[in-house]
Amino acid sequence: MESNGHVLMATTGLPGSHTLAVYRKHGGYEALAIALSKTPDEIIDTVKRSGLRGRGGAGFPTGTKWGFVPKSNDKPKYLCVNADESEPGAFKDRLLLAKDPHQVIEGTLIGAFAIGARRAYIYIRGEFAHEASIVQAAIDEARAAGLVGKNILKSGFECEVVIYLGAGAYICGEETALIESIEGQRGEPRLKPPFPAVVGLFGCPTVVNNVETLACVPHIMKRGWEWFAGIGPERNTGPKLYGLSGHVNRPGVYEAPMGISLRTLIDEYGGGVPGGRPVKGVIPGGASCPVLRGDEIDISMDFDSLTRAGSLFGTGTPVVMDDTTCMVRAAWITARFFAHESCGQCTPCREGCGWMQRILWKIETGRGEERDLDILLSVTDQIEGNTICALGDAAAWPTRGFAKKFRDEFLQHIREKRCPLGGGSLH
Ligand SMILES: Cc1cc2nc3c(=O)[nH]c(=O)nc-3n(C[C@H](O)[C@H](O)[C@H](O)COP(=O)(O)O)c2cc1C
Repeated sequence: MESNGHVLMATTGLPGSHTLAVYRKHGGYEALAIALSKTPDEIIDTVKRSGLRGRGGAGFPTGTKWGFVPKSNDKPKYLCVNADESEPGAFKDRLLLAKDPHQVIEGTLIGAFAIGARRAYIYIRGEFAHEASIVQAAIDEARAAGLVGKNILKSGFECEVVIYLGAGAYICGEETALIESIEGQRGEPRLKPPFPAVVGLFGCPTVVNNVETLACVPHIMKRGWEWFAGIGPERNTGPKLYGLSGHVNRPGVYEAPMGISLRTLIDEYGGGVPGGRPVKGVIPGGASCPVLRGDEIDISMDFDSLTRAGSLFGTGTPVVMDDTTCMVRAAWITARFFAHESCGQCTPCREGCGWMQRILWKIETGRGEERDLDILLSVTDQIEGNTICALGDAAAWPTRGFAKKFRDEFLQHIREKRCPLGGGSLH
């Protein structure tokens, strides 16, 4: 499946790419047949060796996660596909759902077989109603062809694949909130441990995986772990979908190996910045990832390199900002999002996100004092690490990143008692 030099997007541009006929014509579901001829342990071992790390943001090794599901536990096991994709800047899973739903379903079935699950939920954010209808049609087609349901490919393996629609809450992308939501509860994250691999959906062992993570799995089964492990830097392997947005001439989803340079993504894939303006900052992987300055974009897009640089790879979806952007306003817009999406369970996140939003707005509108900058940073310190889930961290990190990387611009706002960019190009 490499018709255009791509792997994950090999069939994406073809007419009818969402149909079973086109997917099968390009080798679709052959990987499932290979997987069903192996033992679950062999599959888990292959995925471990490939080095595949989760594409949902945290970069946890997928094979290792699958291996945590206890074999001795006789409760049902579940696989949940995380298609909530609500982080500002992220839109790569949406493309897979709309254009390549069978690739996701095939990866889901292989994952379910590997962990012993007979039921998989695809949790799709409610706003993706169009994508959900495409995925549902794909599930129906697959069921009619004996690929979903009982006795799949006459192997004796059975697995139901069911869509669950979210209702517009970013927090439901957090894996335990997602589980609560499927159970019919409010989407509030659970304390861990116990981890979902042991006590997850309906109290049973559960794996939650991102859409793109599972889309990688059929290719690993078909081409072998060595092929996957040979792409990208060590410990950061495989092909990747990069969602590029903001001030670039050609925003969109691009497939490139892990480890491509951020500058290459912006200049060659994205066609550079409109009007040839300078890059002022880039949020490399979704709103929760600390901003990089324009002079820091000669960096390898992978989990370890971005962590070393004090940022995060996240979902690998860079938002580019040119010199017309006010960084205080960018920080405020980001903080406003997290304040709105905080579930309110934990005091540091519920109160702290509101504080960050208000202080940033005060500075942006020319009413800030220098001590506000210290208060802002102390609020980020008090949120980080003190909440049940990572939404608190996800809110604190970008605020701290903007305030530290663009401190001079924050101080300029405070000293001049106005936004020097007149609010800049963001609203
Ligand atoms: C607030 C919050 C929102 C999240 N949203 C998503 C999401 O929309 N999609 C996703 O795959 N992971 C999301 N995650 C990460 C999941 O909790 C989890 O790590 C991921 O689904 C695991 O899949 P992976 O190992 O395949 O990456 C979110 C995490 C947090 C803290």
